[in-house]
Amino acid sequence: MCRGLQGVVLEVGFGTGPNIPFYPPTLTRVLAVEPSSGARGLAADRIATSPVPVEFVGLDGARIDLSDASVDCVLSTWTLCTIPDVDAAVAEMHRVLRPGGAVHFVEHGVSPRPSTARWQRRIEPVWGAVAGGCHLTRDAPDLLRAHGFEPHEVAVVHKGPDLVARMSVGTARR
Ligand SMILES: C[S@@+](CC[C@H](N)C(=O)[O-])C[C@H]1O[C@@H](n2cnc3c(N)ncnc32)[C@H](O)[C@@H]1O
Repeated sequence: MCRGLQGVVLEVGFGTGPNIPFYPPTLTRVLAVEPSSGARGLAADRIATSPVPVEFVGLDGARIDLSDASVDCVLSTWTLCTIPDVDAAVAEMHRVLRPGGAVHFVEHGVSPRPSTARWQRRIEPVWGAVAGGCHLTRDAPDLLRAHGFEPHEVAVVHKGPDLVARMSVGTARR
């Protein structure tokens, strides 16, 4: 997901910084949004080894304190499933991204198998309560499209336990 990232990158749902080892040399700066103080603390060692400066700029992807069109790329790995107000967050990504810039994403979503999708819908409220607010039935390409992005080069892969196996991996251009 990090291949092709360049310039100033907004990483939403930075977590413990697992993407840091994959940042390409074309990045100049990472602006990170992450609400969990525990995750931010755990990220400290990785940030210390980061080849580019990482700066925390906010706690909520739904309200990002950056100017319009001020970043070159956005990175989101398994985060759109978790953000409570995901529509506001995708709208914020669109606002802060420069025209022509891209969101790089990998997200799990609703299964194409009707029986799995039924289970996903049934257990989603309980799942969310025990899995940090994670939703099982969101569809990243649809969400991005609804907010004016053009998803392209999106691959669908199936990996891991059925309920979270369907992943959309790709980029979406503003
Ligand atoms: C499943 S984790 C993924 C973390 C990381 N991106 C990764 O690939 O491992 C989801 C992340 O979204 C963060 N998150 C939850 N609510 C958020 C919000 N409103 N805005 C931004 N990030 C949020 C969580 O704290 C968590 O770090």
